[in-house]
Amino acid sequence: MTLDKKLADLEALREKSLEGGGADRIARQHAEGKLTARERVELLLDPGSFLELDRLVTHRARDFGMDKIQIPGDGIVSGAGTVDGRPVYVFAQDFTVFGGSLSEANAEKICKVMDLAVQNGAPIIGLNDSGGARIQEGVVSLAGYSKVFWRNTRASGVVPQISAILGPCAGGAVYSPAITDFLFMTEKTSYMFVTGPDVIKTVTHEEVTKEELGGARTHAEVSGVAHFVRKDDAAALAGIRDLLSYLPSNNLDEPPRVASREAPGGEDLNGFVPEDPQKPYDMGALVRRIADGGAFLEVHAGFARNILTGFVRLGGRSIGVVANQPMHLAGVLDIDASTKGARFVRFCDAFGIPLLVLEDVPGFLPGTRQEYGGIIRHGAKLLYAFAEATVPKVSVIVRKAYGGAYCVMLSKDVGCDFNFAYPTAEVAVMGPEGAVNILYRRELPADAAPEARAARVAEYVENFANPYVAARRGYVDEVIAPEETRERLLRCYQLLEGKRASLPPKKHGNIPL
Ligand code: HXC
Repeated sequence: MTLDKKLADLEALREKSLEGGGADRIARQHAEGKLTARERVELLLDPGSFLELDRLVTHRARDFGMDKIQIPGDGIVSGAGTVDGRPVYVFAQDFTVFGGSLSEANAEKICKVMDLAVQNGAPIIGLNDSGGARIQEGVVSLAGYSKVFWRNTRASGVVPQISAILGPCAGGAVYSPAITDFLFMTEKTSYMFVTGPDVIKTVTHEEVTKEELGGARTHAEVSGVAHFVRKDDAAALAGIRDLLSYLPSNNLDEPPRVASREAPGGEDLNGFVPEDPQKPYDMGALVRRIADGGAFLEVHAGFARNILTGFVRLGGRSIGVVANQPMHLAGVLDIDASTKGARFVRFCDAFGIPLLVLEDVPGFLPGTRQEYGGIIRHGAKLLYAFAEATVPKVSVIVRKAYGGAYCVMLSKDVGCDFNFAYPTAEVAVMGPEGAVNILYRRELPADAAPEARAARVAEYVENFANPYVAARRGYVDEVIAPEETRERLLRCYQLLEGKRASLPPKKHGNIPL
């Protein structure tokens, strides 16, 4: 055979591998508002940077007539490329080929890119759109999932792992994305559940649609499984690129450093926080006013909205922000807020991203639902995560810092490196009203004159509900004017660049899961 013929054959094979499941199935994919696996990879990566691997791999199944249907690539498009010039590894399930179902061969393809990503210290991005285990392959397919899960776990804390759910993701298949660090979903075209509506109807007699059970909104707002929701594939892929810009490539690298940008309104912050401790305000707006360019990439924006988590840049450095949000449930800590915050803190710590806490917290949410639900062990997660983190940690007490929530939200003694308080801060065991009720129960019975109660409340506010008691004892390093916040933070993170801290030698801690 001549070289020309050989090259022509190679070209034909390459062409065939681009066809996926064929024109009809691609048209159906588009009609559903979804892109193909290959289109998604192209949009995710820098133009022309995709190095595809294993495009000629085929499955080895013989049963159910499978020996007669071989599609090059076998339902996965995988390989490496760059995002903003930095290497990433990617696999995209191709729903047009056997419903993107996972075969022995395509599990091997996924494992290959995961192993390369870990070896080469680059993020792993999985684009999911699959009918689950390849039914024709049975246990071989299940074993393939196990191999992927094992690698997800090994890679955790070594390289960032990001999943996008861009179609179905059901049964045990959900557990690979669930282990990854960040999960994107698309509105209307994606869903995730362990058992679908039909099984649920049979077992519990509940009637629920796919969308209600496992659509993007459900997972972004109710279950907390999804960190980001975007309107379609293109927006989700752009979102992944944006997220990556804040992250290091691996746990030994630094996050990318970019030019510092002015913050819109940082010098104009005095008077932003209402003096009335009961009055809500948007902590997200405060974050934006001190962040470079006013940019705040919120993580888990729709879930546990009483706490904010997300990334900003300060002086061009990536910073992970955890902040109470007085606009929702007065910024109280509850079960969901605690787990949301804890997971975010642990991600930042694993990947060397410094932490910033903005605190305005009235305490933990009271009630039997919270206590029976385990607020004790869930709240402990957030405390544990802050205490365990060895990255630079800075906090600003903006207004309330009451009780156990004060300790949890990165108080000095759980390892905060530098902490500040505004003059509006109230660092106390509890709010003035509650404190007066307990301290003066006998002196102020229910029918006591309101003036007498008000006088005691005023006395308490004067003596305790301020930052100065804490500042006098060094629990607060400095009381600052709000307009000084950004400048102080910039200096602190620069001073903390050489921070050395390590945990006592151990296999791993035992965070109260
Ligand atoms: C093989 C599959 C498949 C699968 C879909 N297909 N799922 N092939 N194994 N698991 C094929 C279909 O035969 C069809 O082939 C094509 O993909 C598109 O599927 P449709 O049903 O036409 O698409 P749609 O109507 O959009 O429905 C999508 C779907 C449905 C809801 C995902 O296909 C479905 O219910 N599939 C089975 C899901 C499932 O039960 N999977 C196992 C879950 S348990 P043609 O040739 O007609 O185009 C599991 C365990 C994982 O995954 C365990 C990990 C530990």
